[in-house]
Amino acid sequence: MPNSLSLLCLLASPRRGGNSDILAAEACRAFEEAGGLTKQIVLNRLNLHDCRGCDWCKTPHEVPHPCAQQDDMQALYVEMTQADAILWATPIYYWSPAVPLKMVIDRLFCWGEWQPTRHAKALQGRPVGLVLAFADEDPASAGYIHAYSICKAAVESSGGTWAGCAWGVATDKGEIQQHPEALARARALGAKLYTLAQTRKGL
Ligand SMILES: Cc1cc2nc3c(=O)[nH]c(=O)nc-3n(C[C@H](O)[C@H](O)[C@H](O)COP(=O)(O)O)c2cc1C
Repeated sequence: MPNSLSLLCLLASPRRGGNSDILAAEACRAFEEAGGLTKQIVLNRLNLHDCRGCDWCKTPHEVPHPCAQQDDMQALYVEMTQADAILWATPIYYWSPAVPLKMVIDRLFCWGEWQPTRHAKALQGRPVGLVLAFADEDPASAGYIHAYSICKAAVESSGGTWAGCAWGVATDKGEIQQHPEALARARALGAKLYTLAQTRKGL
């Protein structure tokens, strides 16, 4: 299906098959049912380093890559700018996105709207959605707003279009399967990502 819209899904949980993975799979299924193709990447299998704060990205360079560090983030920059839509899926760890996603977010500094380079706002309107799994039934004490705000600001400052968040409350691995309302939110987000990707492409 060469003309299918694509969804790139970044999985940040270190627990394979856990609650955020399950919600992400629901969103991907909905995107595929709408006619798209999906690809999932497990972030902690990549060789990703944290931002060094070297400020190399603040100066325009002739080279194609936006960051000086030559690790797997270089391929991820390319993947994200080739996808039609993006989904980030993470558990909340200590009121924040889990470290593998926070690592990616910090490395988006080179795409920040403040950068005087061609890499500023590199997401160019791509829709980006978020899946959050967390344990505390009270979203305020779970850190929902913190994690949500960090991710939304990172997307928007990189030029992306915020597609919203599908969340679920669960603790044990796989427990989210017992929460149909959370699974439904994830499916709705997958379908919305497809619609936004279509609109962006004028389809
Ligand atoms: C290190 C660690 C930190 C956590 N911090 C929070 C937290 O701040 N708020 C919360 O509600 N749940 C917290 N949790 C619970 C997880 O978010 C929850 O179990 C979630 O369902 C895990 O998703 P996963 O199965 O996709 O890994 C934490 C769990 C761990 C292991």
